Amino acid sequence: MTVAAIGYLHIESSDIDAWMKFATAVLGLMEATRDDSAGARFLRMDNHPFRFMVSSGEQDRLLAVGLECRTAADWQRCCDALTAAGHECVPGDSAEAQRRCVTEFVTASDPSGNVIELYYGRQLDYRPFNSPAGVRGFVTADAAGADLGFGHAVLPAPQSETTIRFYTDLLGLAICDDLRLATPPSRVVFMHADNPRQHSLALYDQPHPSGAVHVMVEVQTLDEVGLAMDRAKAAGHPIIASLGRHVNDNMCSFYVLAPGGIAFEYGYDGLLVDWDNYTPTVSTEGDLWGHEYQFPGVND
Ligand SMILES: [Fe+2]
Repeated sequence: MTVAAIGYLHIESSDIDAWMKFATAVLGLMEATRDDSAGARFLRMDNHPFRFMVSSGEQDRLLAVGLECRTAADWQRCCDALTAAGHECVPGDSAEAQRRCVTEFVTASDPSGNVIELYYGRQLDYRPFNSPAGVRGFVTADAAGADLGFGHAVLPAPQSETTIRFYTDLLGLAICDDLRLATPPSRVVFMHADNPRQHSLALYDQPHPSGAVHVMVEVQTLDEVGLAMDRAKAAGHPIIASLGRHVNDNMCSFYVLAPGGIAFEYGYDGLLVDWDNYTPTVSTEGDLWGHEYQFPGVND
């Protein structure tokens, strides 16, 4: 397996101040100021230099998913596999690599048009994480210290089969759950990277205007989830799923819309898996309980 973790997201925001206020005051992420920001804003949740890079723009959308390889050799294998399969890998220049605090990266697009940045060699930031909202810490490592990535992202993938094969055959992610929903008829394929988090990336077989169906961050306790829900409600951000628990990764969470419309899942108690003894599941429902969905304009 060649992709170790989902390392970061690059997000475009039409109102970057509102987005940063949401990310810091509601989610509890910490802004990291940088001399070489070139207009972007950066958010930390652990000892990575950032987990979210936010650029000001005309649209509100996910620009790129940063996928981390453990070594230069793993990274080269991924690049070679992508190139051999006819996918263009565009090398990032040294200034852009430095801005992402990585040694090297390439940009590529999956068959559904989602942009990935494949990288290795991240420079970590050992200054203490200090949440402006008082969050004690985000779950980005297991008890043994293995990097679990920032959480997970669900991407739109109307070109379902070819996009699944892009991540599994070329980048080495593996399917851990295949969710078939009856209403509306749709499919979500969940994939794990080379770490114990039950899923790092999932592909929804329908289009989505923001480029991200949702993004998940994980905290340590139910109380931290509840406190975040209170902060989200107090700040007037739409709660689009009530508290609930997912079937496949056991995540107990709620969903809130960030300014601009990307949904954030905020949860705790996510499943960590020993992949040597795991049988991939096929599910027909997403939730054990709760998660009453309330999409703006749909159920109003
Ligand atoms: Fe999720």
